Amino acid sequence: MSEHNTSDVGVEGGTVEPNGDVALPDHHPRRTDFDPRAAKRAERQVTFLFTLSALFTLLFVVAYVQIPTDAVVPIPFVGTWSASNAALGVTFGLAAFFIGAGVMQWAKKLMSDKEVVAMRHSLASPQESREEAISEFMDGVDDSGFATRRVLRRSLLGAMALFPIPLIVILRDLGPLPGDSLFITNWVPGMRVVLDVTGAPIRPSDIPVGGIVSAMPANLPEIQHRDGNLNARAKDVVLLVRINPDEIRSQQGGTPEEPWDYEGVLCFSKICTHVGCPIALYEQRTHHLLCPCHQSTFDLADSGNVVFGPAARELPQLPIRLDAEGYIVARDSFQQPVGPSFWERG
Ligand code: FES
Repeated sequence: MSEHNTSDVGVEGGTVEPNGDVALPDHHPRRTDFDPRAAKRAERQVTFLFTLSALFTLLFVVAYVQIPTDAVVPIPFVGTWSASNAALGVTFGLAAFFIGAGVMQWAKKLMSDKEVVAMRHSLASPQESREEAISEFMDGVDDSGFATRRVLRRSLLGAMALFPIPLIVILRDLGPLPGDSLFITNWVPGMRVVLDVTGAPIRPSDIPVGGIVSAMPANLPEIQHRDGNLNARAKDVVLLVRINPDEIRSQQGGTPEEPWDYEGVLCFSKICTHVGCPIALYEQRTHHLLCPCHQSTFDLADSGNVVFGPAARELPQLPIRLDAEGYIVARDSFQQPVGPSFWERG
């Protein structure tokens, strides 16, 4: 670092100096640079800010000890908030704020205000330094006996080879192996396709051409309640979309007698085949479904094939039909695992 001097230009001894275009603005001294009373005043301001910070830190501790966790405070238009959370958040936030404000004032008004130019050195070390580093490294290797003490070397390499094993054990300990659960969803023949959230059964007439709805198997709420987790939801959610039948170019299966759609209503897994985000951005004109995570795009009028993005597989299609009451049900289960790839998927 050197004080600013625009005559320090050019390249000298491996140091890249600023070129002649460097033009820092003229230096204007601050009031605190020449007026001791202003400097004293600034010092008092900074001290005051730090004192406020200390005060709010103490209030944080008092709030933590004194405010019961179930106490609430009314907030207009919002309802109620936990009094403890509100007090802890406000006091901690203000303690951090006043430390920051004090440091900024200190830097702005009292610290040295000289412009300096930092010289940029050549990144590569000189040949001499590189040779010296290599020589020191080789000395270290000799000194350690790594090359000559074979038993030690082998035991070290053996220990390092085994070292990752605890990681595998820890991963294995995360839960039961998935077994075939990734191949199986709760879609079985005859399972009603119902609206997500409300659970209402769906007739084809509920979906206009160009429309799309999020849906689930009728028994999903019950399964979630039984399992106490959302694992089933992560595999079972689907989308129903209605496309003019003339615009459907292909489907993943079906025959004229047993088509996989019902008069243009198609059902696809809602789980992206890239890394499993739920998808819901549909453009009815192109029939493209876009995953918001990494922009994989699937053409629902063409077997759910990938037309853009990192997904490597089509979106699995669920065959559907109507039941005796005219509601949409699964004709069969999914014919391939839903969601992202995994080793055994093939
Ligand atoms: S998860 Fe859908 S594109 Fe990555």
